[in-house]
Amino acid sequence: MPDELDLFSFFPTPEKRVAELRDQIRHHDELYYTRAQPEISDADYDKLFRELEDLEKKHPALADPNSPTQRVGSKPLDGFSQIQHPVLMLSIDDVFELKDSDTPEAELIAFYKRLQKNLGRENISVTLEPKIDGVAVSLFYENGSLKYAATRGDGTTGDDVTQNVRTIRNIPLTLKEGKYLQYSIPNIQSTIPTVLEIRGEIFMPNSAFAAMNEERDEAGLPTFANPRNATAGTIKQLDPKIVATRPLAFLAHGLGAYDGEPLDSETDFHHLLESFSIPRNQPVRIAHNLDELLAGVRFFNHHRHEIDHATDGVVVKVLDRAEREQLGFTSRAPRWAAAYKFLPEQQETILRGISIQVGRTGVLTPVAELAPVLISGSTVSRATLHNQDEITKKGIYIGAKVLVEKAGEIIPAIVKVIDPDPACPPFSLYDFVAGKCPSCQAPITQEDGFVAWRCTNFECPAQAVTAISHFSARKALDIDGLGETVAEALVRHGHAKSPLDLFSLTEEILANLNLGTEESPRRFGEKNAAKIIAALEAARSKPLNKWLFAMGIRNLGESSAKELSRLHLHFTEIPSSPILEELHKDTRADAKKKNPLLAPYAITAEIGPTVAESILTFFQSEAGKKTMLRFAELGLNPRSENHAPIPAEAPQLPLTGKTFVITGTLSQDRDHFKALIEKNGGKVSGSVSKNTHYLLAGEAAGSKLDKAKQLGVTVLDEDAFGTLL
Ligand code: IVH
Repeated sequence: MPDELDLFSFFPTPEKRVAELRDQIRHHDELYYTRAQPEISDADYDKLFRELEDLEKKHPALADPNSPTQRVGSKPLDGFSQIQHPVLMLSIDDVFELKDSDTPEAELIAFYKRLQKNLGRENISVTLEPKIDGVAVSLFYENGSLKYAATRGDGTTGDDVTQNVRTIRNIPLTLKEGKYLQYSIPNIQSTIPTVLEIRGEIFMPNSAFAAMNEERDEAGLPTFANPRNATAGTIKQLDPKIVATRPLAFLAHGLGAYDGEPLDSETDFHHLLESFSIPRNQPVRIAHNLDELLAGVRFFNHHRHEIDHATDGVVVKVLDRAEREQLGFTSRAPRWAAAYKFLPEQQETILRGISIQVGRTGVLTPVAELAPVLISGSTVSRATLHNQDEITKKGIYIGAKVLVEKAGEIIPAIVKVIDPDPACPPFSLYDFVAGKCPSCQAPITQEDGFVAWRCTNFECPAQAVTAISHFSARKALDIDGLGETVAEALVRHGHAKSPLDLFSLTEEILANLNLGTEESPRRFGEKNAAKIIAALEAARSKPLNKWLFAMGIRNLGESSAKELSRLHLHFTEIPSSPILEELHKDTRADAKKKNPLLAPYAITAEIGPTVAESILTFFQSEAGKKTMLRFAELGLNPRSENHAPIPAEAPQLPLTGKTFVITGTLSQDRDHFKALIEKNGGKVSGSVSKNTHYLLAGEAAGSKLDKAKQLGVTVLDEDAFGTLL
């Protein structure tokens, strides 16, 4: 009798089908994200994905946090919980490439000599691989399923960032046994270990970072300074949906807790990663002696820019795991590894000319126009010269042979003039522009105590693009979608000369706006146009402080705008404000004490004489008068939402009288912490001084942390800050 027809294989149970779909999607994810060899079209992939989503919706019992559908991000968290690392997450000791030395690799040689001494042998095999400039994470797999992901933290405990890490497409959420085994591995049967803790780095590929920044700019969002900052900020996001939109990637470079087949060498470890399709850091070179090691680091130094992520050195590790054990650890780091840090790449070129850019507040910035040179993988043809002082100090002149460097970050700088010609005096910005703004020909001035030259014309067209993007920024009037690109196109096509011109734009003008060039035009489109018109409409009812800040008046920052709106009810009061007049006359130290007119207003340090003067000067200028007229024509008179000119005795809040500075990468953006501090009576300032009470420092804090330590300012991490509150 023939076998009974197996109906189940024709009509699989939902459970079976869900498992099947997850398997297929994982397989295609891996082909796409890890191997860059997709086998099916996007449309076919979407079909599988939607079928899985539908089934999971219909059968909630089949939900699984490691299902591929969960990569889009679940609900936001209130904060990160802590995870104790099963094995300490150590750092590596740095050894530096030396500047102007006959043996720039001296520190690396010393490292190798220590290995030789400690192991009592001449030739020790080591691996070399790029050092990834990202954020370290630990991925913990239990029986082949991602159980959690944690940041390094203090090495003992880190933040539980599982939700965020699940959104990273090239990280497998479940492991499959030896599916892609390309090697015959003597020691590994490729069965899944019960415990497998993989360590590695999360980062943003350079190309994806650049594309993301461009999109953000076009959407009117602030851009990130560099891939590392963007990565650190993203990993600390509490909302995984946001993380899912950012182009993060992962590469493995180390092993933590592990109970699988024993591994003899780093090579075995690489094969283990291969067999479970965990993306690993590449390329890896092996050096069997000191000469090969030196040749290896030179190879990496030479090719460093061919890698699509930030790298500032080479990690050197002893190959043999038994030898590693013999070498052991210092209190901080393993003795068997070193991070060899490259010097920033420098190139010689000719300074062909200097052009002058005019910024939003009218500052004239000299920019070096260079004969193009290739540095760290990209062609550099311009470098900022900062200001006249910098030019004079370095003796920079047009025609000079200069040394250019791309120091870690993006913006290239001129290090020095090579073989300066004593007959050539340093470039003079003032003489070069004949005392006039290169954009509008108005006179330029250099204020007491400032190095910057500045255009005196408030209506200078060069300031229009930056003025419009500032006006539209999130902290100002939040015209979503109006970034620098759109502002630039509006000014270029003559649709706007100043921010208030935005209110005369029609949906049609915006929709037809060409963001591209004449040869390859790019329409802004109806949908985006409608969005901007709606945002402009909404801006009309935004409070006074936002409007004041949006005007981009020099020295008028967010906090002085807030203070101004506390002291005035309507915009129209500002140009002839008696309070500003008095403050302008007064010196800041006396303002509060002696001036009887001001005393009742409880003036704070937010508005000193300089700020007051800037505001009054603006409103007395032609441009300021025109602005007031335009406000009247548009029927605009923004109103204060915090009007309280003579406050009752200020309530005593926990942070009353305390000044904070915020630095580094925190679990949420700085504005969140700023609001929290202000709500509790404290103040936030931009720079550390002896008047600072606390520095709230996140990860990767830099110069502000150093300064705070130097001045003895109390440094708080997020936990300590929470306790203080
Ligand atoms: S191996 C015992 N390999 O840099 C630690 N680390 O500055 C062994 N890093 O803690 C780590 N690229 O987070 C290793 N190719 C690489 C790396 C790498 C970046 C990070 C890692 C490490 C830190 C040390």
